[in-house]
Amino acid sequence: MSNPSLLILPGDGIGPEVMAEVTKIIDWYGAKGGLKFDVSEDLVGGSAYDKYGVPLTDETMAKAQEVDAVLLGAVGGPKYDTLDFSLKPERGLLRLRKEMDLFANLRPAQCFDALADFSSLKIDVVAGLDLMIVRELTAGLYFGEPRGIFEEGNERVGINTQRYTESEIDRVARSAFELARKRGNKVTSVEKANVMESGVLWREVVQKVHDEDYPDVELNHMYADNCAMQLVRAPKQFDVIVTDNMFGDILSDCAAMLTGSLGMLPSASLGAPMANGRPKAMYEPVHGSAPDIAGQGKANPIATILSFAMALRYSFDQGAEADRVEAAVETVLASGLRTADLLGEEGVQPVSTSEMGDAIVAALDASL
Ligand code: NAD
Ligand code: IPM
Ligand code: MN
Repeated sequence: MSNPSLLILPGDGIGPEVMAEVTKIIDWYGAKGGLKFDVSEDLVGGSAYDKYGVPLTDETMAKAQEVDAVLLGAVGGPKYDTLDFSLKPERGLLRLRKEMDLFANLRPAQCFDALADFSSLKIDVVAGLDLMIVRELTAGLYFGEPRGIFEEGNERVGINTQRYTESEIDRVARSAFELARKRGNKVTSVEKANVMESGVLWREVVQKVHDEDYPDVELNHMYADNCAMQLVRAPKQFDVIVTDNMFGDILSDCAAMLTGSLGMLPSASLGAPMANGRPKAMYEPVHGSAPDIAGQGKANPIATILSFAMALRYSFDQGAEADRVEAAVETVLASGLRTADLLGEEGVQPVSTSEMGDAIVAALDASL
């Protein structure tokens, strides 16, 4: 049988820097960990635009459809901010999500013990935190029509449309309930049914899916603004949060800070099962290309490394190996090693991106 295939798209800014550390782990698995992957690499975002004039070529899109999983670093940067919308680096990422139909974006926020005192919240509020945001990823405000900037009388109007069909809500709700059954058995569905019709429909459909097929899972509904407040007030009340594309984007950055840094939060974007039974999948950190620190060896590679751990778990049925990678990260953090984003204590010197990656590989070695 051939090895499972991975397409690596490092992207822009710190994307290539953090992805280089994941490559070390993939190489470690090939040499010592007993898992070999067929790896190919390609361009996405600004780096693809620089070479091909588009943020994602049709060839790269086709490759992404064929492989067992895509690993993506990050896209974007100030250099591209004035480009036409269709050419922006972010369009490359959105095209991947849309055409692969990756409707369920799993964004877990876990607070490692070693970092509990580093969060901007009190230790008691975040210690032991383990929540999962399931963000709908292929519809809503990001893709709804009409959209654009139009002339209206003597001024312009900018339009985006929030749009959800029942089936789009139904399928992401099922993903959330299935996950909850394997975790704390509780789902909080988040919308603004008080002001948006799409929120009313969201609430109805999630409730119906619950009542018909998941009555054993605890379900509650919450408005998005209250959810943002509750996330910083008492985040441990949550197990699985299911929400739309835009609210999920915002709430997951908020949840990231509960774990100490945006550089810690991984994600898995999953679609329907392929012919081989594996879900269509792309794994990417929640953070962006961090232009402010790019090229300086300061980026925290842990979010991207933990995204690879999610690939082991969700694409390759290697839960024990995912646990091994997560434990290696935990060991290294417990030893006191910190990239600059995780520094609080005076006198502690930060390690570089590659030193952090090397330490995690060393912890993997030690785990054998
Ligand atoms: P960002 O996530 O890139 O950065 C926000 C802040 O967090 C910055 O101060 C940055 O230095 C810090 N940060 C982020 N990741 C870090 C890491 N791994 N280690 C240490 N510090 C880290 O968000 P932004 O500044 O709003 O956006 C910059 C660019 O990235 C934009 O072009 C945006 O569109 C793009 N973006 C891409 C993705 C993606 O590719 N998935 C996600 C978010 C933003
Ligand atoms: C994310 C990012 C993306 C989003 C951008 C870069 C398109 O912020 O993955 O969270 O808004 O979905
Ligand atoms: Mn985001």
